[in-house]
Amino acid sequence: MQGVTTHSQHPSPADDPHPEPEHRTAFAQASDDLQRHRPPSPVWGDERDAVSIALEWAATHTALASDPKATARSAHDLHAEVGETITAGGIGAERAMELFDEVLLPATRASDDPMNLAYIPAAPTRAAVAFDTVVSAANVFGGLWEGGAGAIFAENQVLRWLADLLGWPADAAGVFVSGGTNGNLSALATAREHARRTRGGKPAGGWALACASTAHSSVSSAARLLDMEVVMVPVDANGHLTGQALEPLLAADERICAVVASGGTTNAGIVDDIASVVEVAHRHGAWVHVDGAYGGAALTAPSARHRFDGIEEADSFIVDPHKWLFAPYDCCALLYRDPRPAAAAHAQHAAYLDSINRGESNPADLAAHLSRRTRGLPLWYSLATHGTDAYTAAVERCLATARTVAGAIKASEHLELLLEPELSVVVFRRRGWDQDAYRTWSRRLAKDGVMLCVPTAYQGEPALRLAFVNPSVEADAVIEVLTTTMGEADGS
Ligand SMILES: Cc1ncc(COP(=O)(O)O)c(C=O)c1O
Repeated sequence: MQGVTTHSQHPSPADDPHPEPEHRTAFAQASDDLQRHRPPSPVWGDERDAVSIALEWAATHTALASDPKATARSAHDLHAEVGETITAGGIGAERAMELFDEVLLPATRASDDPMNLAYIPAAPTRAAVAFDTVVSAANVFGGLWEGGAGAIFAENQVLRWLADLLGWPADAAGVFVSGGTNGNLSALATAREHARRTRGGKPAGGWALACASTAHSSVSSAARLLDMEVVMVPVDANGHLTGQALEPLLAADERICAVVASGGTTNAGIVDDIASVVEVAHRHGAWVHVDGAYGGAALTAPSARHRFDGIEEADSFIVDPHKWLFAPYDCCALLYRDPRPAAAAHAQHAAYLDSINRGESNPADLAAHLSRRTRGLPLWYSLATHGTDAYTAAVERCLATARTVAGAIKASEHLELLLEPELSVVVFRRRGWDQDAYRTWSRRLAKDGVMLCVPTAYQGEPALRLAFVNPSVEADAVIEVLTTTMGEADGS
């Protein structure tokens, strides 16, 4: 088991051979000097072994490469190996950690392996991953300013950086939620409530939202939960939602109170024509939400920023830093150009909440939640550590990798590029292969830990896609795998 040792004896601060680090708060320093540590709990004891085991594992693991062959196993198999871990007397920290390290974690996918190019993988910085542990240790209640002011202040600086990238005004505001699904749901709940308040109630037939069929599945799921109908807008020849296609639908259907544009579709990385969508939607009094869960990170990249033109006037926006802004799970930044409609939709009221200062920045007011961990802080720490220029460089590197791989696919005899990548997703076809051949090829490469690339469909036809969100990916390594494994005739 990596890096797990037990410590039954801890030196007291007075015996500590190491000088006190200078970065401790005066309170922490004074507590150490007085040996004013948490007293052992009458129930849990001092838990020192459990703490050391977990933190030492975390420190070691953060520095290690992940195993590309790690993969899911059946619950039956896992039970046979792990047995019952929840028992009246407990199995002890050492055993629990051992099971996690040796059996449970190896049965999960290495989402940040550089050759994991399936779905939308992950590539958090080590700084962000390490700080996630700090966030847990700090255990801040991040729902309300009075409980989490300092931590919320830091999150808000990150949100301000994002608002500046969007070109939004000084009073734009946002909140970190668990993921794009919650971000889209919260934004669309705001849009619907805003329409109810400003349009004088529900239209006959209920509310509807408009989006393209390429919008993420979480948009339909939000519509279902919000009892809104989804009006599908046809896309143009290049797969974009446009104002032109939206216009007749909005003119004919007063139920549509919100339009969702994609700032990078998941399947193909297409950015809708946000400028024309905003112009038409606003002329018809509809809210515009931009789902940049995957692609919003490209706002940092000068070579791709123009694709988001018009976003300056959108009403709400999400980006998942756990996708392409190098933060660990789970983290979605949800921003509102004007946060007042969000507060009107989401702020919770109860006798015991009445003393809250609503003039402060209260993250609970802007989404469907009350208690929350300050999950924007790993991104804050990483951004503060590395600087925003490094983020631009990292995103540009992924974009360049996608362009290089797309170029090699175009030049290859066996492969066909299905569209020029707008962002960092490359969609292509192996001439002569069907869905079964793709599946066989994909499984073999995954099993051997060579590369993770799963089949998809593009314009109704089987295809493959590669998603580049990890700046450690080497284009040449990907091209080499495609060249050596896809020249084979049958894909087996
Ligand atoms: C464009 C887009 N929107 C929303 C989501 C949902 O995000 P999450 O999985 O964080 O809930 C995804 C996930 O892949 C996505 O790609």
